[in-house]
Amino acid sequence: MPYVSPADLADRLLAWYDRNARTLPWRTLPGGRPDPYHVWLSEVMLQQTTVVAVAPYFRTFIERWPPVGDLAAAPLDEVLPAWAGLGYYARARNLHKCAQTVAEWRGGVFPDDEEALRQLPGIGDYTAAAITAIAYGRRAVVMDGNIERVIARMFAVTEPLPGAKPRLKSLAGSLTPDYRPGDYAQAAMDLGATVCTPRQPACVLCPWRDSCEGRRQGIAEGLPAKKPKADRPTRRGIVFWTVRKDGAVLLRRRPETGLLGGMMEIPSTPWRDQPWTLEDAAGEAPVQAPWRLLPGMVRHTFTHFHLELTVAAGRAKVPELARGLWCPLDQLGDHALPTLMRKVVHHALAKAY
Ligand code: ADE
Repeated sequence: MPYVSPADLADRLLAWYDRNARTLPWRTLPGGRPDPYHVWLSEVMLQQTTVVAVAPYFRTFIERWPPVGDLAAAPLDEVLPAWAGLGYYARARNLHKCAQTVAEWRGGVFPDDEEALRQLPGIGDYTAAAITAIAYGRRAVVMDGNIERVIARMFAVTEPLPGAKPRLKSLAGSLTPDYRPGDYAQAAMDLGATVCTPRQPACVLCPWRDSCEGRRQGIAEGLPAKKPKADRPTRRGIVFWTVRKDGAVLLRRRPETGLLGGMMEIPSTPWRDQPWTLEDAAGEAPVQAPWRLLPGMVRHTFTHFHLELTVAAGRAKVPELARGLWCPLDQLGDHALPTLMRKVVHHALAKAY
């Protein structure tokens, strides 16, 4: 392969970005300097989901809370529902805490270096580097899943993830220029998302194709290698679709810490390996009621386990004794129900009536 210097590789990628940058609501044109608040908000949202999914949420947040001080001043009970659908609520809580820290202690100005950014709630290595590079135009080595893939292929790194991360970061650092660092980081992300894709990478379109060692060896598509995941266990539970005379359904709030912390749920037994019978579950029911199991089940997969929930439907005998919140059916949408619980609602509505 012809030798191409790191600076030439960076220039090729930047020239590619100038022609192919995706238009995203938090971006400025290549060369521009976006608002650090917008960069922070979009990067936190993008930690867990795709660019396409994030765009409408991003727009809603900045229309509703234009400067970070407004987000800081908003009650958490308004921020959480606006986050619903973006995943883990712990992130939304940290987002809110971070907005408050920046508003109260820093006059609404985000720090401009990685070290200080990492001290803020919810900001890890990736987000700190991304904000430094994109919002402040300072050199930082930004590593996300897309960039790891690009680098593993460029240098034919066959060591599996996650062990290979430090090596990939140092190789990425050897290519990262000290000019246009924000554009460079986003160019690398876009390259990974649109050209150097996990399957069937479009190498003919790649500005780095002539220097890609993975391509030369014919192993690019299989990289980065991943350590095989331990099989996820399956947990099981019964959820209680509890109805009051007027049709309202019982919800309760999950504990602040742990999975789906602080989110509303349809009351459930604990989740365990062994299947539940109605008799086992009776002591876990939120109120007394004649329960009947609905046919079928709700399946959901979390990072560390699969979950199978059976739905028990019942009419509360003494609704006043229930601990939780009675919610009219047509107001279920107002609550920050996690995806799992939305599935439960759909299932119950389809099978219980
Ligand atoms: N994924 C996470 N942040 C991104 C950004 N700024 N541009 C493109 N993809 C991204």
